[in-house]
Amino acid sequence: MCIILLRTFRYKSKINFTSNIMAARLSSDMTKFKETLKSSKEIIILSGAGISAESGIPTFRGAGGYWRKYQASSLATPEAFRNNPSLVWEFYHYRREVAAKAQPNPGHRAIADYESKYGSTKKITVITQNVDGLHARAGTKNLIELHGNLYKTRCTKCKEVLVNNDSPICEALADRGAPDANIIGSDIPVRFLPHCEKPSCGGLLRPHIVWFGENLEAAVLEKAESAMATCDVCLVVGTSSVVYPAAMFAPQAAARGATVAEFNIEPTPATPDFHYYFEGPCGTTLQEALSD
Ligand SMILES: NC(=O)c1ccc[n+]([C@@H]2O[C@H](COP(=O)([O-])OP(=O)(O)OC[C@H]3O[C@@H](n4cnc5c(N)ncnc54)[C@H](O)[C@@H]3O)[C@@H](O)[C@H]2O)c1
Ligand SMILES: [Zn+2]
Repeated sequence: MCIILLRTFRYKSKINFTSNIMAARLSSDMTKFKETLKSSKEIIILSGAGISAESGIPTFRGAGGYWRKYQASSLATPEAFRNNPSLVWEFYHYRREVAAKAQPNPGHRAIADYESKYGSTKKITVITQNVDGLHARAGTKNLIELHGNLYKTRCTKCKEVLVNNDSPICEALADRGAPDANIIGSDIPVRFLPHCEKPSCGGLLRPHIVWFGENLEAAVLEKAESAMATCDVCLVVGTSSVVYPAAMFAPQAAARGATVAEFNIEPTPATPDFHYYFEGPCGTTLQEALSD
C-alpha cells in the first residue's frame, strides 16, 4: 500500500459545512465528554503541531510557518533536499535546536499523566504528527510518531536510521540556521554536512522525517490504523486536519461510531464531523478534559 504525505489534501466533510448543522451536532459540554471518557476502554489522542505551540515551537500555519523567506512546508520536501541539502540541513538544524530548548507544556503533561494513571485499565495510544519529541519527553509511553523525529537521521545510501542528539549535528552547522529573512542562500559544501559513519558507506545523512510527497513507513501507518480502528474515544488535538493521511483518521473513527472530541484554537475543515469541540489553547482545555 502506498500512502503519501500530502499537504494540500482537501478534507471534504460528508456533512454540509453550515453553522446550523454545526450548532445542532457539535457539543462543548465538558462534563458529558468526561463521562464518556470515564467509561471508555480504548482511547486515541491524535496530536498535531498545535500541541507544541505553547512550548514555543511554531506550527506550519500563519506567520510562524516561515523560516527566512521560505514557507516551512516547502523545505520539508525531497526536492528541496535534492536541490540544496545545505539549506534543508540549516532549516532542520534550527528546528532541532528550538525543540531541544523547548519544554513539554501542560498539554503534553496532561496526556502523559492520564496514561500513567489509567494506562493499566484502558488502552491509551498517542498518535502524533509532531517530530519534536516532546510527548516522549513528557513521559508518554505508548506513542506512535507518524512523521518521524527531528533527532533521528537516515542514511541516503544504506538507509540506516540512528538516534542523534548532537548539538550541533556537525561542525559546519554551528552558528547556522538563523531564521532571519535577510539571509540569502546556503552554501555549506555537501562533504561537510552530516554523513554516515560506517566506513563501508559514508552516505549523506538526512533527517528521518516523512517529507511532503513521501510515503509513511508502512509498519508505523499500520500500527496507527489498527489502533484507530478499535478506539471508542478519540481526542484530536492541535491539528489543522489538512495533512493526509492523518487528516482522515478521526473522521473515519467518528463515521464508525467512536466519540471524537476536537481541541483547537479555531475550527478546522473536519470539525463538523466530530461530536465535541473544545475551543482554546489545549494546554488549558486538555488539563480540564483529562483531570478527574
Ligand atoms: N512541533 C512539530 O513537531 C511540528 C511543527 C510544525 C509542523 N509539523 C509538521 O507539519 C505538519 C502540519 O500539520 P499539523 O496539523 O500537525 O499542524 P498545522 O500547523 O497544520 O496546524 C496546527 C493546528 O494547531 C492549532 N493550534 C495552534 N495553537 C494551538 C493551541 N495552543 N492549542 C490548540 N490548538 C492550537 C491551529 O489552529 C491549527 O489547526 C505535520 O505533518 C507535522 O509533522 C510538526
Ligand atoms: Zn550509510
